[in-house]
Amino acid sequence: MGRVDLRVDGKVALVTGGSKGIGRAIGAALAGAGAKVVLTSRKQHLLDAAAAEIGGDTVGFAAHAGEPDSARAALAFAVDRFGGLDVLVNNAATNPYLGPVLGITESQMDKTVQVNQRALVTWTREAVAVGLGRHPGASVVNIASIGGLSVESGIGYYNVTKAAVLHLTRQLAAELAPAVRVNAIAPGLVKTDLARALWEEHGDTIAARTPLGRLGEPEDIASAALFLVSDAASWMTGASLVVDGGALLGPKLG
Ligand SMILES: NC(=O)c1ccc[n+]([C@@H]2O[C@H](COP(=O)([O-])OP(=O)(O)OC[C@H]3O[C@@H](n4cnc5c(N)ncnc54)[C@H](OP(=O)(O)O)[C@@H]3O)[C@@H](O)[C@H]2O)c1
Repeated sequence: MGRVDLRVDGKVALVTGGSKGIGRAIGAALAGAGAKVVLTSRKQHLLDAAAAEIGGDTVGFAAHAGEPDSARAALAFAVDRFGGLDVLVNNAATNPYLGPVLGITESQMDKTVQVNQRALVTWTREAVAVGLGRHPGASVVNIASIGGLSVESGIGYYNVTKAAVLHLTRQLAAELAPAVRVNAIAPGLVKTDLARALWEEHGDTIAARTPLGRLGEPEDIASAALFLVSDAASWMTGASLVVDGGALLGPKLG
């Protein structure tokens, strides 16, 4: 039997929301496995710092995930800088509202959909337009959430957009096969700024309830992303990998 190969040497990858948290860890994992990486988010100085720390062929380009012109500019930059595009990681997300779904305003809903859901279609469409899928081994990874598979208090509307990410993954996988594989990751609670309100106060209690006994680190998600873009996953498309320490199973038994 052949060796499982998680190297992605020479692939060009663009990671949205790449300045910190899960996106930054995905960028580092891909760069560490040989990829050339463009990190995008809204703040150039944070991207520059992340790219310098990751090293290798890693560079930052400021782009608002929810604005099509920004998407086009960032993808054109990636192609211009590195000569093509093999991997798109739709990772950026926002959560402007905490509370029951019926308390959300129209503009908060619009913002959540714009960045978490609509952007995924825009970036994927524009990535294909600049050549994603022209070469073998192309793939898209969408970062969803286990909240898209369950119900939770406080972040119900954000989770609606994450459920949409899971379905868009299946739909786009079917539409883009065989040229581009499209898969998703559904993380559980990971210690990043986005989820700080959820883990800062009650993190220990949540960790104790989680079957694997701890909260997630960005690297837990990055290793799944590296697997999905590598040739080791060349027969996977339309799939969603749950990476949650067992949280979806319910509280630890016994
Ligand atoms: N942390 C968790 O527990 C958890 C669980 C399940 C799923 N997720 C998902 O994992 C992904 C990454 O989240 P994270 O926890 O790593 O969050 P994070 O640490 O807050 O990082 C979010 C990243 O997205 C960027 N971003 C936010 N809004 C943006 C916009 N409008 N345009 C461009 N970039 C934007 C941020 O940079 P700027 O603000 O500088 O633009 C940053 O780089 C998200 O899809 C999130 O829904 C997280």
